[in-house]
Amino acid sequence: MARVDSPVKIGTKTAKNRITMAPTDKFDWTDDSGVVTERSVRHYAARAEHGAGLICVEATCVAKDARLSPTQIGLWDDAQIEGHKKLADAVHAYGALVIPQLHYGGYGTHPACGPRRGPSVTEWRDGMAAEMTVEEIHKAVLQFRDAAVRAKKAGYDGVQMHACHNYVINNFASALNKRTDEYGGNAEGRARFGCEVIRAVRDACGEDFIISMRASGFDPTEEEAQEICGYYVEAGCDYLQISCGFEDPKNFPHDPSLPYNSICAMGVHMHEKFRGIVPVSTVNGIRTPELARYLIENDLVDTVDIACGLLADPALSEAILYGTPYEKCRGCLRCRYGPVKNHFCPAAKARGVEE
Ligand SMILES: Cc1cc2nc3c(=O)[nH]c(=O)nc-3n(C[C@H](O)[C@H](O)[C@H](O)COP(=O)(O)O)c2cc1C
Repeated sequence: MARVDSPVKIGTKTAKNRITMAPTDKFDWTDDSGVVTERSVRHYAARAEHGAGLICVEATCVAKDARLSPTQIGLWDDAQIEGHKKLADAVHAYGALVIPQLHYGGYGTHPACGPRRGPSVTEWRDGMAAEMTVEEIHKAVLQFRDAAVRAKKAGYDGVQMHACHNYVINNFASALNKRTDEYGGNAEGRARFGCEVIRAVRDACGEDFIISMRASGFDPTEEEAQEICGYYVEAGCDYLQISCGFEDPKNFPHDPSLPYNSICAMGVHMHEKFRGIVPVSTVNGIRTPELARYLIENDLVDTVDIACGLLADPALSEAILYGTPYEKCRGCLRCRYGPVKNHFCPAAKARGVEE
């Protein structure tokens, strides 16, 4: 039986346990420069100090004009490497692996940062998104690659590509891709952009570098999402971290009597498909030690990815590993807006955790 405290091999590296911190943007913790600040270094180091085996740093933009907010951290410029190096060193000091989540806005680009663009012309929120030309697609692939090279220089163990939540790689994979060229059509065509990113990163960064895809388990269908992940793995992805994307998770086939929700079920289903091939993580609603252990000990996934629970209290990792006390996330979702509007997390406040 797998245990939460048993190591797990990811690519050529080994995480010391099965707990991963999911990426969570901090928005106004930096400015237009996109440089990582000391506050972020302390934030991630605290989650590593309390025992998480792998830290996924928040969405880190690869192109200044593809940011999801005007105050998003980035790796589009060499000047950003130093801040990331401090972050990577601080996390490594506690024995955790650390990878940044490389991000390119696509339809989800903030209009103040650059044009919304993706696979096809689409009505998106309060406006229209444009279709990327093949030249723009090739440029974006190189921007992912160059950001990964900077991540390697900063000392990270690898990178995670943001391939879910309606950002560019997910846009290409999803039903919103209406292209008729090689980047659209069937699942293979819709996976092509993500695969080109993976191959470019692998060629530039070598084998000893984790390439994770945080992909949707339900775009445009469960079957095709699994097929698309298969192409990612073939291209060189060594870790699937599953979340949702464009399709409504409420429509995902899920038995509501199970102790986890339908988004979490996407990772569980993906793990069934890729068991023994690459490790698979799941996320969403994992806020108690009991659920985290249940998912690992029943071999439902290889790692549990936790966002709000670890924002509320980094000691949740120790609670999962050793049964020690922690402050439970109240599920209020203030953390989604907290950094922007200076709200605070009630659990973090109760525990005296710096936000
Ligand atoms: C404040 C906040 C910021 C987030 N930022 C990101 C992000 O940068 N990248 C990403 O893929 N998901 C992001 N998410 C989604 C989380 O990683 C996670 O998938 C979601 O919160 C569900 O997990 P949970 O129930 O453990 O919180 C964010 C969530 C929150 C609450």
